[in-house]
Amino acid sequence: MTTPAQSSADLIPMLDLQAQFANIGAEIRAAVEGVLTSQQFVLGPQGDALEQEIAQASGTRYAIGVASGTEALELGLHACGVRPGDEVIVPAFTFIATGSAVSALGARPVFADIEPGTFNLDPEQIAALITPRTRAIVAVHLFGLAADMNPILEIAAKHGIPVIEDNAQSIGAGYHGRKTGSMGSLGCLSFYPSKNLGAYGDAGMIVTSDEKLAARLRSLRNHGQTGRYLSTERGWNSRLDELQAAVLRVKLRHLADWTAARQAHARLYDSVLHDLPGIVLPHAPAGCEHVYYLYTLRIPGQAAGRGAGSSQSGEPRSDIVQKRLAERGVASTVYYPVPLHLQPLYASLGGKPGDLRVSERASREALSIPIYPEMTQAQVERVAGALRESLRD
Ligand SMILES: Cc1ncc(COP(=O)(O)O)c(C=O)c1O
Repeated sequence: MTTPAQSSADLIPMLDLQAQFANIGAEIRAAVEGVLTSQQFVLGPQGDALEQEIAQASGTRYAIGVASGTEALELGLHACGVRPGDEVIVPAFTFIATGSAVSALGARPVFADIEPGTFNLDPEQIAALITPRTRAIVAVHLFGLAADMNPILEIAAKHGIPVIEDNAQSIGAGYHGRKTGSMGSLGCLSFYPSKNLGAYGDAGMIVTSDEKLAARLRSLRNHGQTGRYLSTERGWNSRLDELQAAVLRVKLRHLADWTAARQAHARLYDSVLHDLPGIVLPHAPAGCEHVYYLYTLRIPGQAAGRGAGSSQSGEPRSDIVQKRLAERGVASTVYYPVPLHLQPLYASLGGKPGDLRVSERASREALSIPIYPEMTQAQVERVAGALRESLRD
């Protein structure tokens, strides 16, 4: 039997796009209507305007709309000179697209470990991985928080290697007064629907202040064309469509408020959860502004043995907490249960358990709980209460 707390009406999801649409539906409908009336669907005025607005918001001179965050990475890496046989250093704890964009170019991802406190690339791991074939470093700003870019940029500059920022999850995040995406050679954004700035389908963008790179990327996204039906190299069909651009322009007007709401919810979580023993709350280092794409806890430890409910000996405590939260009508998600060096896709690269211990531990311990702008204070408090109960042994 379903108890009232478990009915779908009471379930607190990870994200509630319907609640968002209830607030902005009229604006979205008007914007979509405008595109339908114009009958211009690919590479038009909406996309041009969005590029300018995103470049301005990112603190870069240029922005180039593309079809997805994955293709933003592929085109960006290619434009930075990554070719088959090259090596690209990427963190092991990220979404698979960070690695597969490298593989799609015939290059080899070389996995680096992360810092335990931020879940981001550990600058200290990079130097030992650089070889004569290293062509780029990808710094991922995971969960809404900037990677520690200064030391990463310093090592890269020393070796003459470009840094590409995978900013799919952290639009608007700050690092010592700069915006994520604006610090490396280029930054890649995803507008996947669940992102802080999400389209109504797939879409992405590359931001850069390098004029030559920007021109090259504009050509690469459109079959390598540099003139009318004149291609100078093999490119992609990776163009941003006008319907997505129009939707994104509406949403961009709300992004600062939505980010502020996420940050307020995070502060509330921080204040009501800080005394809970046995968990680690997300924490932004000094000088970093977290935009809380996710609010991700660390829950170390394993079940001691049978008898504590239905938990199995050795089962990660984070899995047990996740089940208990679900019983209380609270969604939670494990991002990411398998680090990239242990993905079946990369078995041929020879990664083994124990190679990248901090990433592997993060895969066992990380649990993300609901955070989205439309949450009410009561919902945040209910999640916190359910978590408190779920952590009791
Ligand atoms: C860290 C990271 N990189 C790359 C991507 C790929 O973006 P997309 O899904 O738009 O292709 C995503 C998002 O899904 C992501 O989270």
